[in-house]
Amino acid sequence: MAQAKETSMPATSNLTEANEVAAGGATATAVAAAPAEEYSDQEYVVRARNVKRVYEIGGQPVHALRGVDLDIKRGEYISIMGPSGSGKSTLFNMIGGLDKPSDGTVFIDEVDLAQLDAFELAWLRCRKIGYIFQTFNLIPVMSALENITLPMIFAGASLDEQMEKGKKLLQMVELEHRMHNKPSQLSGGQQQRVAIARALANDPAIVLADEPTGNLDQKTGKSIIELLKRLNRESGVTIITATHDDKMLATSDRIAWVIDGQIHRLMTPAEMDMERGTVDGMH
Ligand SMILES: Nc1ncnc2c1ncn2[C@@H]1O[C@H](COP(=O)(O)OP(=O)(O)OP(=O)(O)O)[C@@H](O)[C@H]1O
Ligand SMILES: [Mg+2]
Repeated sequence: MAQAKETSMPATSNLTEANEVAAGGATATAVAAAPAEEYSDQEYVVRARNVKRVYEIGGQPVHALRGVDLDIKRGEYISIMGPSGSGKSTLFNMIGGLDKPSDGTVFIDEVDLAQLDAFELAWLRCRKIGYIFQTFNLIPVMSALENITLPMIFAGASLDEQMEKGKKLLQMVELEHRMHNKPSQLSGGQQQRVAIARALANDPAIVLADEPTGNLDQKTGKSIIELLKRLNRESGVTIITATHDDKMLATSDRIAWVIDGQIHRLMTPAEMDMERGTVDGMH
């Protein structure tokens, strides 16, 4: 558990830690490449620079991301909005180290993901990032508690640590009474709460939630967003969430609008309200 705890240390330590596991000093090169004077306070947990992703379908290029620049502050709650097909999930895959950009760079805690080998990337994904999906993606044959403790096993936690932390997380999402239930015995909202607890298992710096309310009714969806916001406030975990529902935006610190593979606008909910107010007033 010692390693999992270290992930909540300041980024300078995280860097040192990442460098310790980095074989051959590849990460050190990445750190050196980051503009240290500009980000010396390690304020940013994610930095994307000119990130492009081109897919190919039937020999034709599909430009899913066309050069995204995005800085996300530690502890921020940021919502990514945009039409279907605009590139939100592709951007999540890049930030989460699940796919590689065709061009550009993603830094997590100032570590350039492209410089990591498969082992280092798996280490970073396991300890620094929690993932939440629209379809919950729980393992059907495992109980709620087993689903939550699984990432801790990968991180090398002892059985005692797994049980203690797993139960604490279940309490946090108010499901301790359901710990032995399998996903099929839980409602959609309850499954998503288990998935949220699982995402937090190794005290990640970032939680990536791709349309976490997409399969839930309005009321349940709102309670999931409120839970994410509470966890964000209480633990300081950075939340990056994609949503189609603009009623979910009020809880965000910032909203990024993705259109056709680019960040079109970045604004606070207050700025958005003001803008909408102005627009309404004009009509
Ligand atoms: N694996 C893939 N192969 C080819 N094209 C892909 C692949 N994944 C995504 N795309 C294309 O990239 C573009 C962006 O897709 P993406 O899934 O990122 O959109 P999105 O904003 O998440 O949409 P939604 O709101 O519907 O989830 C789309 O044109 C999509 O068809
Ligand atoms: Mg998507």
